[in-house]
Amino acid sequence: MKHFISVDQLPVKDIYNVLRRAEYYRLKDFKLNHQLFVANLFFEPSTRTKMSFIVAQRKLGLESLDFHSESSSVLKGESLYDTAKTFEAIGANMLVIRHELDDWFDQLKGKLSIPIINAGAGKAEHPTQCMLDLLTIYQEYGTFLEVKVAIVGDIKHSRVARSNAQALQKLGAEVYLCAAPGFEDEELGMPYIPIDKAAEICDVMMLLRIQHERHVHQAETSNYLNLYGLTKEREQKMKDNAIIMHPAPINRGVEIDTELVECSRSRIFKQMANGVYIRMAIIMELLEEWGIINENNFKERKAFATVK
Ligand code: CP
Repeated sequence: MKHFISVDQLPVKDIYNVLRRAEYYRLKDFKLNHQLFVANLFFEPSTRTKMSFIVAQRKLGLESLDFHSESSSVLKGESLYDTAKTFEAIGANMLVIRHELDDWFDQLKGKLSIPIINAGAGKAEHPTQCMLDLLTIYQEYGTFLEVKVAIVGDIKHSRVARSNAQALQKLGAEVYLCAAPGFEDEELGMPYIPIDKAAEICDVMMLLRIQHERHVHQAETSNYLNLYGLTKEREQKMKDNAIIMHPAPINRGVEIDTELVECSRSRIFKQMANGVYIRMAIIMELLEEWGIINENNFKERKAFATVK
């Protein structure tokens, strides 16, 4: 992969390569001995993605170039393209970009000579979140085949839903969708079921935040938890080994009862921890692909492999 933009572009074997590599970095420290710079260009707010990219970069021994769009020359009208070209010119070896446009990558495609990672594209894709979610599910079940996953919530406005639904289906999971009226996205082509049914039959309840910032009209949420969210009553109907996931940030008490956020089934904070290892793996895959580094420890990584 030249750039990491969409999970759709990734063959199954490349997905497993990234998962395997992330597991290696989870189990073993690894640091590069080169001075390389990674620019983190976040044009939308972020806590987890941005900070876990920075931790991943520092663990790998890379120099993180921080960028705050609200105090940058974006305020003087500089475009995404000119901002990206500027970081390339001053020596960035890689760009990590989050932007509100679904298709921001089209502005940069073929025009830069450094790798780019998509850290969130509008409502379209969040491929690094998808990969850390896949790692979390794999750690739990050791396979994706026939694992039943319910993606629950504001599907229509969620880039996480889109990336995860496509990738999970490609890997052989059974994907179900649950959404309040108006939050469906029929383009995904996957079956919708009521949340009560999903809680009973699924191995993974993957909840989504209501994306208020992407709504034209403010959504009414006073009774959302009871009607469409994961209540304690629904959690009690879940299978013994079923788990709860959420990409966060969480609207506690809206899409999930606040007591369930840290219950024994919850993998929400484990997802965040996995985000560091997945992002280390993606960064390294791209640096190698572009010949910027040659890690050359494939055999050692294979010996550590816990992902088949
Ligand atoms: N899950 C996620 O993308 O969180 P942030 O918006 O905080 O990065």
